[in-house]
Amino acid sequence: MRNVTEDTITRAVIARHAGAPDARLRDLMTSLVQHLHAFARETRLTEAEWFEGIRFLTEAGHITDDKRQEFILLSDTLGLSMLVTAQNHSKPNGCTEATVFGPFFHPEAPHYAHGADVGHGAPGEPCYVRGSVRSLDGTTLADAEIQVWQADADGRYDMQYPGLEAPRARGVLRSGADGRFHFKSIVAESYPIPHDGPVGRMLDALGRHPWRPAHLHFMIKAAGHDTLITHVFRNGDKYLDSDAVFGVRQSLIQDWVRHEPGPTPDGSVSGLPFYTLDFDFVLSRS
Ligand code: BEZ
Ligand code: FE
Repeated sequence: MRNVTEDTITRAVIARHAGAPDARLRDLMTSLVQHLHAFARETRLTEAEWFEGIRFLTEAGHITDDKRQEFILLSDTLGLSMLVTAQNHSKPNGCTEATVFGPFFHPEAPHYAHGADVGHGAPGEPCYVRGSVRSLDGTTLADAEIQVWQADADGRYDMQYPGLEAPRARGVLRSGADGRFHFKSIVAESYPIPHDGPVGRMLDALGRHPWRPAHLHFMIKAAGHDTLITHVFRNGDKYLDSDAVFGVRQSLIQDWVRHEPGPTPDGSVSGLPFYTLDFDFVLSRS
């Protein structure tokens, strides 16, 4: 096709994809081209603005490596990650809701026995976490795999400390015969998502902050059930209504209960104030 115009270019591009052997790819690209062109038409995109967009994506590419994923941060801060999570993991009423995965999961976290100190030296006030895993019909789920990971008192994940060898504030446990689990860790604090790159500058230019409310990440796997990827958020956090990545669900907010120094749930005596957190997870059958 020659002499494409402002009015015919969209159809021309889509027609060029007609022979794509993968029908799903063809449908995705057709829709993407339609929306991209509609955006340029609706905004009367200028050449300078188009080039600024190219420059932004180039910078995002340059800062991305195996530890830093700027494109996921972009997706998160534009609400795309939460939208995809919501539409792929809508659960029956009564199940624990899912939320974003985030970039700080590590597949090789240490395995711990019940009651262990998952914090493993990470800075923070002590926190005793107790929970259970059950199916929507109330059946307790024994031997479920529970992965937990969290930021420390400085709002950083272990992998954000250059040169830190041993994993901290992350681990894998298994629920007991009664579906329950418990571990010691530290109190999670709110933290800014990495914002020293193009996504941070974008947030700044939009008058947005990069903060996430304090939370614990959980990934729970049980036979015959959908894997649950979620957080438990700390009640009272000042960022609950302005999470930089739109991940907060009311049903996932819980009290971290503060206790004065004294006897702790694991039978020891703490000389410092400590916290307890209780949360029960409900999984849907697959
Ligand atoms: C997180 O909760 O770990 C996270 C999620 C999205 C972007 C950055 C961090
Ligand atoms: Fe997080």
